[in-house]
Amino acid sequence: MTNTPHGQWSSRWIFILAATGSAVGLGNIWKFPYTAGENGGGAFILMYLICVAAIGIPVMMAEIMLGRRGRQSPINAMHTLALEAQRHPIWKIIGWSGVVAGCLILSFYSVIAGWAIAYIPKMALGTFSGAGAEQANAVFNGLIGDPWILLVWHSLFMMMVITVIAKGLEKGLERAVSILMPTLFILLIALVLYAAFSSGAFMQGVQFMFATDFHALFYPGCTPEQTACEFSGQGVLSAMGLAFFSLSIGMGAIMMYGAYLPKNISITSSAITIAVADTLVALLAGLAIFPIVFANHLDPAAGPGLVFITLPIAFGHMGGGTVFGTLFFLLLVFAAWTSAFSLLEPVVAWLVESWRMTRTKAAIGCGIFIWLLGLLSVFSFNILSDFKPLSFLSSTPFADQTFFDLFDYLTSNIMLPIGGLLIAIFAAWVMQHAARREEMGAEPPDMSYNTWLFLIRYITPIGVALIFLNAIGLFS
Ligand code: PFF
Repeated sequence: MTNTPHGQWSSRWIFILAATGSAVGLGNIWKFPYTAGENGGGAFILMYLICVAAIGIPVMMAEIMLGRRGRQSPINAMHTLALEAQRHPIWKIIGWSGVVAGCLILSFYSVIAGWAIAYIPKMALGTFSGAGAEQANAVFNGLIGDPWILLVWHSLFMMMVITVIAKGLEKGLERAVSILMPTLFILLIALVLYAAFSSGAFMQGVQFMFATDFHALFYPGCTPEQTACEFSGQGVLSAMGLAFFSLSIGMGAIMMYGAYLPKNISITSSAITIAVADTLVALLAGLAIFPIVFANHLDPAAGPGLVFITLPIAFGHMGGGTVFGTLFFLLLVFAAWTSAFSLLEPVVAWLVESWRMTRTKAAIGCGIFIWLLGLLSVFSFNILSDFKPLSFLSSTPFADQTFFDLFDYLTSNIMLPIGGLLIAIFAAWVMQHAARREEMGAEPPDMSYNTWLFLIRYITPIGVALIFLNAIGLFS
């Protein structure tokens, strides 16, 4: 098959923009800084980079390859590929777990994107002019404490996503990403320059990000002087989970985009370009945010509110901060928007293929379902903030989690890595040699193909397994 019923990307560049649009999102600008902050900074970031290079890029290549060979939504693509390899169609479970993960992620992703939308008018009206940490905290807590307001912005964001996906590949996705992505990159660089020259604590931020203090990673909340510290492998698991989340891998989003990729385009160089751009944006976001955290004596471990508290303080003190700040949150919304497309597209494509639904109906139907699921995240910050659904699982990370925390933890730290592991096993061990080689365009001896195969055969499965075992305390 050379084409899907949904169409195909019009060029390599558009594919890279769309896939980078999927990868670059709230994961880079919102989640990366606060997760790194919660896990002690430098050592966490080093682990993150290792996971991106050794596990992330190979899995991304495998996903693009499987998508392009299967030429359908991940569920149907995996079905076809399993039959081609003369194996049991149960392998389509990869597609199914991706659909479930995608719905769960989009349900809370939309709520956080809603925070970013809410900040656009706040910035534009000068709410943060001259504001200190206390005022910025108060505005943020006021927002997340009000379920009605959160509901309005969550609904708006879901409608924005549904509208683009309903329009299809060329008129929706391609058009949107080719405008949104370049703008985003330029603004982020401008912001880092601002942080470098005006916060007065740039070096402190850099040091936090690049000083590799493994003690802070393995013994959270414990200073080197303390002796009775408890070992935890959760930090490393979070680094791997964040790498999967940030690269959009392990759930079929990139597989779906791979299905629209023309035959003659190199998978290796595309995947490396996407991963490098994604990592660069995460690091730039860190460089923009941590100096501000330290200059204003804020806590880097403040959690999900970090970006929504630090950046407004910075904008509130800078010349032109009102315009610049408004623009920043607008672009954060754009980044989230281009990521959300790839969360909705796989399930919509599947409904179009297998249930013969129109794109519009499928997009609206799934959108409403995910919007409803999102209500649980909306309420996690206010009326259900004390409700911990799995509190009976004491002494596990789940015990103290709200619905929002659970959806986030379950998808990033469990479902995406397991999805990635299965994708790696399928690509490396189940698929037939000839099919894999043909799809990767490899003629023996091909160094980059062989390196990839080695990584995906041994390093990815062993790495993911070790990180899981470490997280459940086997090496403590
Ligand atoms: N990569 C996106 C981000 O960093 O915000 C989030 C995401 C999109 C995760 C698509 C998973 C996915 F399939």
